[in-house]
Amino acid sequence: MLKGKDVLNAAQFSLKELDLIMNTAARFEKRVKSGEVINSLEGQVVASLFFEPSTRTLLSFETAINRLGARVVSMANAATSSVAKGETLADTIRTVDGYVDIIVIRHPMKGSAQIAADNAIHPVINGGDGAGQHPTQALLDLYTIRKEKGILSGQTITFLGDLKNGRTVHSLGYFMTLFQNKMIFVSPESLKMPAEITQDLRSRGAEIEETEDVGKALSDSDLVYVTRVQRERFENPEEYEKVKGVYVINRKMIEKAKKGITILHPLPRVDEIAIDVDDYEGAAYFRQAHNGLYVRMALLALISGKE
Ligand code: NCD
Repeated sequence: MLKGKDVLNAAQFSLKELDLIMNTAARFEKRVKSGEVINSLEGQVVASLFFEPSTRTLLSFETAINRLGARVVSMANAATSSVAKGETLADTIRTVDGYVDIIVIRHPMKGSAQIAADNAIHPVINGGDGAGQHPTQALLDLYTIRKEKGILSGQTITFLGDLKNGRTVHSLGYFMTLFQNKMIFVSPESLKMPAEITQDLRSRGAEIEETEDVGKALSDSDLVYVTRVQRERFENPEEYEKVKGVYVINRKMIEKAKKGITILHPLPRVDEIAIDVDDYEGAAYFRQAHNGLYVRMALLALISGKE
């Protein structure tokens, strides 16, 4: 179903495909945890091109590649590659495409993953394109919700923080819509979810409420997905100073929130979740980061046609 496909945008996935990815990830999680050595992608080479900083996406992809028995060629700091000499993204991709079987790319420009896919014969996986999309993060978010809650539908989730520039919520919104969850968007006015996304989600049947009242949102939510204010996307540092730290989730707020609320965050965290929340049992963000490994293994194996 996914063999040979690009992964560019969360909106591309059907329920059937998501089900397949979730179940495949669960199998990989069991196999890895049992200590099995997996070599289903032996002989394959995957390129990992990161034109923006990354910890989790880069390392979990590269770990996934290694744990599948494939090999990785990496430009962990692609901004210092020949791009620094003025090479276009299209030319870089055309070159790398001749070396490898799959390309994973993160790039600061929205739409860059599509450009990469247009210039590659091999499958391209979007590891984050500027303030655009981050579909593999949304897949691991979905997997985490399934594990934490046991269900994927009929819940209320609050998206909190920088919904304008945060690409992870742009992607997760599509999955939450597909699985018929209610969404509450909480952000300062200047960091609202882009209207084009809200409209697109509503046209797909999403139930969305927009508010600045975080306390009320938390008392109505089964899950809260906290995001960092995306400093690197601000043209003017004064604008960043105005909105940084507007929403900080702390233990007191969690105690007043809906009982059993699950807290998600794609990480890195700056200060938007106080550390006194970390030992709350519903604080799932480090478990969430760990789930990225199994989901990315599943995706790579399915795209290669080896699962
Ligand atoms: C996110 C990203 O890069 O968009 N990080 C991640 O991939 N886990 C979130 C962020 O940087 O705030």
